[in-house]
Amino acid sequence: MLNTSVKIVSLVGKGTKSVRGGIRHVNDGIGSIIEPIYQTSLFDYREPEQRPSLHGIVPLKYSREDNPTVHAVESKMAELEHGVDALGTSSGMAAITTLMMALLSRDSTVLMPPLDVYGSTLVLMERLGRFGVKTVITDPPGTNNVINSLRNGINVVFIESVSNPLLRVYDIPKIVRASREVGAVVVVDNTLATPMGITPISHGADFVIHSATKYLSGHNDVVAGFIIGSDDRIKGVWEWRRFLGTIMEPFTAFLVDRGLKTLHIRMRTHEENAKAVAEFLMDHPKVEKVYYPCLDSHETYEIAKKLLSNCGGIVSFEVKGGLREAMAVYKHVKMIIPSVSFGGTESIITHPASTTHAHWSPEDRARAGIKDNLLRLSVGLEDPPEDIINDLSQALSYA
Ligand SMILES: Cc1ncc(COP(=O)(O)O)c(C=O)c1O
Repeated sequence: MLNTSVKIVSLVGKGTKSVRGGIRHVNDGIGSIIEPIYQTSLFDYREPEQRPSLHGIVPLKYSREDNPTVHAVESKMAELEHGVDALGTSSGMAAITTLMMALLSRDSTVLMPPLDVYGSTLVLMERLGRFGVKTVITDPPGTNNVINSLRNGINVVFIESVSNPLLRVYDIPKIVRASREVGAVVVVDNTLATPMGITPISHGADFVIHSATKYLSGHNDVVAGFIIGSDDRIKGVWEWRRFLGTIMEPFTAFLVDRGLKTLHIRMRTHEENAKAVAEFLMDHPKVEKVYYPCLDSHETYEIAKKLLSNCGGIVSFEVKGGLREAMAVYKHVKMIIPSVSFGGTESIITHPASTTHAHWSPEDRARAGIKDNLLRLSVGLEDPPEDIINDLSQALSYA
């Protein structure tokens, strides 16, 4: 097969890998230094042996199976997450659905802390019950409860490295050790932490998934996802992506690759800004409690200290009083945008009880610790003292 790919093999730093990592398909005699957007649904297939095999499975022929622009960013993500290969998907949910199709069959059992995973992930697992998949739930959330719920017959353990909105850090090496004893596959959603915070595969996880809609692309302008595999089982996941048709679009791949080039810098600044905001909120008389993984008051601080190399850009906080006081803050921000999602350049404030967690019962929200006065702030890249903190300060005066 014709080799048209270029890969720099000796990259060490995470920043270098973000900028230069992965395979480029630019040996085309033209000299482009950036991966082109291969906006084509098919590839000339007169001589299949002349076509490269991007994932080592089939020669390149059809963009529902493989696409060079998508492959460029996939190979970069595999490097960043210490996996053997990665697959780009049309969304974070497409990544989870595709992986679950590959891993589960009738009577499979999945273990997850349901009050501590993204809501749609939980609903998906519940819906898979129609096909005979069982979900074991650990309640309340936390590493020890996951480990205590493990038993023979559990096939998959699904956790988030840092959960949302209360930012609990899960002890991945401990969960991996316990899962090995019962033969369960460990899947980690690494969306909040990003590979700048932790690389779950280097702690023994089998698969990592991402909503690349968030920090990886980083600019609130795409919906995308990734599945990263620790070994050859990723080839079976590739088959499912091909049948489900959940591959990432080439233009989206181009934007995600562009976003990844500044991931290390953005995450550093997100963290710096979030720390400044957390400190401001801790001292504020109208704030009841602040959640940030690297505050020593956080319930999983010791795990964060041990595992995280970046604490991320999300700060959650409870406003003194109740729903009325929290909504007063939410409604009065001026520069910060009241909405959903996180991980982009713009600061976004979310009221979980009425948006992301609105479909939960009040009892479930209470068990998860998500109170009506809780707000989640995705701290963006604006200047904290002049703008983010000033805006919060004026909004808090309405509480
Ligand atoms: C932790 C986490 N995982 C997965 C998803 C799903 O990603 P997407 O919206 O890209 O489908 C989200 C979305 O908010 C999320 O927060």
